[in-house]
Amino acid sequence: MDTRRAVNAKVISLHNGSRTLPNGGPVLERVNLTVASRESVAIIGRSGSGKSTLLAGLGLLFPFGDGTDYRLLGHRVSTLKEKDAASLRARTVGFILQNSGLIEHLSALENVRLPLLHSRAHSPRAARVAAHEALERLGIEHLARRRPTEVSGGERQRIAIARALVIRPQLILADEPTGALDEQTGREVLDQLLALVEADASALVVVTHDAEIASRMQRTYRLHSRTLGPATNWVP
Ligand SMILES: Nc1ncnc2c1ncn2[C@@H]1O[C@H](COP(=O)(O)OP(=O)(O)O)[C@@H](O)[C@H]1O
Ligand SMILES: [Mg+2]
Repeated sequence: MDTRRAVNAKVISLHNGSRTLPNGGPVLERVNLTVASRESVAIIGRSGSGKSTLLAGLGLLFPFGDGTDYRLLGHRVSTLKEKDAASLRARTVGFILQNSGLIEHLSALENVRLPLLHSRAHSPRAARVAAHEALERLGIEHLARRRPTEVSGGERQRIAIARALVIRPQLILADEPTGALDEQTGREVLDQLLALVEADASALVVVTHDAEIASRMQRTYRLHSRTLGPATNWVP
């Protein structure tokens, strides 16, 4: 599959996105969202409104419900076998979570290298080099041998971003990426993320409670009553 990016290629095309919980409760209904490469989108909404669920669906962590037409980089996701969906995700999607999700007993370098472990495109040596480069892009190559418990909160999030970006994902999904950081550090980490997203011409979807972060994205939507709408009159 061609994973090179065309400028302004449609990355996400979600039509009538739905998600029903195993107990039958609907979380998402008729969610529509289109995001092209080089575009950044913020998704806001109350706690429990389904933001993380939407992000996980966009990142192919589970299939959306019946009636959903979701295309990721032109692939009609509902027709993919589970292993093909997993492979598409591994090559094209980078996740950044609020609490970094780093593995504590691995070094920063080993954490960042993880997404490449099963990559046929990377020999073990190439994976090491790519992981070093990713740390370098975040300005933290000096932390390569440290464990996540041996660095600051901002540094942890930078390692997590390096891990998300090491595959040069065409889609970056960030769930409250600076939610655990102080304001100043959060701003610096967000600046770095935005600069790298721009350099890679990726598409970015950020879930946030923070009006300032939302204002840095090109578009903002609000998840409310299980669907996505314009973010008017929003008070965080
Ligand atoms: N795996 C799950 N099992 C049961 N309920 C879930 C599960 N995932 C999410 N939910 C429920 O779905 C709703 C949306 O959750 P979530 O997407 O995490 O919201 P947000 O990220 O906006 O806070 C909540 O009511 C939550 O309790
Ligand atoms: Mg959430």
